[in-house]
Amino acid sequence: MRVLLLYESRRGFTLQVAQAVRDELRARGASAETAPLRSVDGGTVAAADAVIVGSWVSGAIVVGVGPAPGVHEAIAALPSLEGKVAAVFCTCDVAPRKTLGTLAGWLRARGANVVVGQTFKRKRSVRTAPAFAGAVLEAFARAQADA
Ligand SMILES: Cc1cc2nc3c(=O)[nH]c(=O)nc-3n(C[C@H](O)[C@H](O)[C@H](O)COP(=O)(O)O)c2cc1C
Repeated sequence: MRVLLLYESRRGFTLQVAQAVRDELRARGASAETAPLRSVDGGTVAAADAVIVGSWVSGAIVVGVGPAPGVHEAIAALPSLEGKVAAVFCTCDVAPRKTLGTLAGWLRARGANVVVGQTFKRKRSVRTAPAFAGAVLEAFARAQADA
């Protein structure tokens, strides 16, 4: 399975999580690559069997909290995700509120079958990246068996 991790990172933590998840997916035998969400080329997306989209959380802690600026437009500009299984993650300092659901909704609107998501809160949470990678592979395998 070819997994493409698309990330939107401002200060580097979301990229760090994406790389940690990628490394664990590879360790478990999957083919996995990372690319920046806003500048990935369409052919790279089209060639993937599965996508994982990660964004930092932007907002004013209790109001206007959601995926980072530009993420909605970038997802809208991707080639169709019809037939692809997907996962989402976000990174934050306080609380993601509805960020994962919003991200998942945008991907579903493009045809993706979003099956799992996780929030990474503060830097130390990168330790949970391997467990997330395992949950992603299990959920992807279940979705493909059901398809
Ligand atoms: C402008 C701005 C707004 C933010 N708003 C929130 C917020 O509303 N809630 C929250 O939990 N974290 C918020 N954060 C924290 C980031 O989501 C968090 O530090 C994230 O891990 C940064 O990822 P990055 O290093 O990939 O840019 C905000 C950060 C910035 C720069």
